[in-house]
Amino acid sequence: MDYSNFSKNVLTWYSLNRRDLPWRYEDNLKKDPYKTWVSEIMLQQTTVTAVIPYYNKFLATWPNVKKLSESPLEDVLDFWSGLGYYNRAKNLHLSSKIINTEYDGVFPEGEEEIRKLPGVGEYTSAAIRAIAFDKSDAAVDSNIERIIARIFCLKDPIVKIKKDIKKYAKKLTPKKNNGDYIQALMDIGSSICLPKNPLCNSCPVIKFCQAEKDSCTETIPQKIKKKNKPIRKGSVYWIISSDEKVLLKRRKNKGLLPGMLEFPSYGWSDNINEEIDKKILSIKNFKKKKGVISHQFSHFKLLLTVYKKKEFNINDINGIWIDKEDLNNLGLPTLMKKVFNHVNN
Ligand code: ADE
Repeated sequence: MDYSNFSKNVLTWYSLNRRDLPWRYEDNLKKDPYKTWVSEIMLQQTTVTAVIPYYNKFLATWPNVKKLSESPLEDVLDFWSGLGYYNRAKNLHLSSKIINTEYDGVFPEGEEEIRKLPGVGEYTSAAIRAIAFDKSDAAVDSNIERIIARIFCLKDPIVKIKKDIKKYAKKLTPKKNNGDYIQALMDIGSSICLPKNPLCNSCPVIKFCQAEKDSCTETIPQKIKKKNKPIRKGSVYWIISSDEKVLLKRRKNKGLLPGMLEFPSYGWSDNINEEIDKKILSIKNFKKKKGVISHQFSHFKLLLTVYKKKEFNINDINGIWIDKEDLNNLGLPTLMKKVFNHVNN
């Protein structure tokens, strides 16, 4: 098969059908790798629809590397609440400091330098270099993997053939306009080459598709059964003072929900040793709230039981005491929003 027109067909389709997304560039606009980097980090584990409002607000708050590096980490973490995978916020902030000190605030172009930034792996580096610097790195995300597997009729589960997929993807990568090309493939993957019921009649590269020729599009990529996640159990404390303030604390900067605000919670992740924790755990006469809160982390499912204590004396614990009405305006992670809703329903 001659693939020389593959990228041309993809790019022509893109010029007519591209999604209008806030991090995408018009042809005549100067590219800003900072914007590409922020968007790619946000898009690592979050859908396009969920990312858009966060991206716009992030850029309005921190329009460049310097502004981001000068901001306290807590502000970035609180901003990230609801997006999940909070290490991304930590890594963005740390990277902004590295870019400022090591590269004079200018986002690096080289693969080696970009890969050294925390939170940037092979795919993200390739995407940044392709989109912001027009390099011809092969960026292969899960949508693109599916397209490549179908074009070349690769029947094994994707996890087993990552290297082959990369090799085939490289073969198709154009020397120019690679940024538009990979974003076009992302759009084709999310609107045409769908996991189920792909819209092959609308596909701009159907004539190259071996899976279509062999009538096996629906069975590629081969699905593998997901294992059930292990379950962890823990407790969370809803502690109210006599003047209706609620006790919060900031988690440690390492581990799960790093640096995030929480209603003190225990038993499911390793973060007990501070004075405040010992105090809370030694309090007696908590009232157990009916039901449990269920929350999915990437590698386990968490079940939290809520314990309540009212009319507590604020001077007994040195935590962060917040007016109940102000809780809605804080950067609480989704898990803690669930606790709030559970207690107040
Ligand atoms: N997913 C990851 N990067 C993306 C991009 N630039 N456009 C759309 N979806 C994406």
